[in-house]
Amino acid sequence: MALPTLRGKLINLRGVRRSDAESMRRHADNADVARYMAILPYPYKLEHALKWINTTHRMARAKTDYHFGIEDKGTRQIIGMIGLSRVNRRDKNAEVGYWLGQDFWRKGHTSEAMRLMLNFAFGELDLARVYAVVHEKNTGSIRLLEKSGFVREGVWRKATFREGRFHDVFAYGLLRDEYTE
Ligand SMILES: CC(C)(COP(=O)(O)OP(=O)(O)OC[C@H]1O[C@@H](n2cnc3c(N)ncnc32)[C@H](O)[C@@H]1OP(=O)(O)O)[C@@H](O)C(=O)NCCC(=O)NCCS
Repeated sequence: MALPTLRGKLINLRGVRRSDAESMRRHADNADVARYMAILPYPYKLEHALKWINTTHRMARAKTDYHFGIEDKGTRQIIGMIGLSRVNRRDKNAEVGYWLGQDFWRKGHTSEAMRLMLNFAFGELDLARVYAVVHEKNTGSIRLLEKSGFVREGVWRKATFREGRFHDVFAYGLLRDEYTE
């Protein structure tokens, strides 16, 4: 499946292409962006972006993961990513993950991206549950999840090793029945 373009007011979500790689690198290559991310490489090189772009195409074709670029509507540049991983067709659930370039933080861009992503997950993909796992110190991400309607379902104790010690992570979930657009 080719990823559709999902249109918002500040941003659109769309599939990424090779011409987006430099913009992705510029925004992802930042220690503050990578700090609490499980899988984002740091330093983030052009080759990481190019490889990731191919991976997103392969996974979308296989219908296992759906990763969208967050496109700034003003410039049409990709300023972050949001995606659904581990899509489980039988249990109808998936994990959501996201990052945004630091220049754009705290302006509502990811809240809008999350709403578009959830509409896609619960609508297009017919999922019943979307979940997220977040580092206990990641205040911005926790606030975003709670504001988007996610409920804290539990704590995975000492589940991640960062900056010299183990930290707890919080498990969040949102059910389709609870979701109000
Ligand atoms: C987490 C992240 C995606 C938030 O994106 P964003 O576009 O700034 O989020 P929004 O502007 O939509 O803000 C959502 C809410 O969180 C709040 N918020 C965002 N960052 C915050 C911070 N650092 N501290 C406190 N609150 C924060 C906003 O104020 C807003 O709440 P409000 O409407 O009550 O004011 C962004 O900080 C980021 O990319 N971080 C690095 C990558 C990352 O950690 N990803 C998540 C891994 S689980």
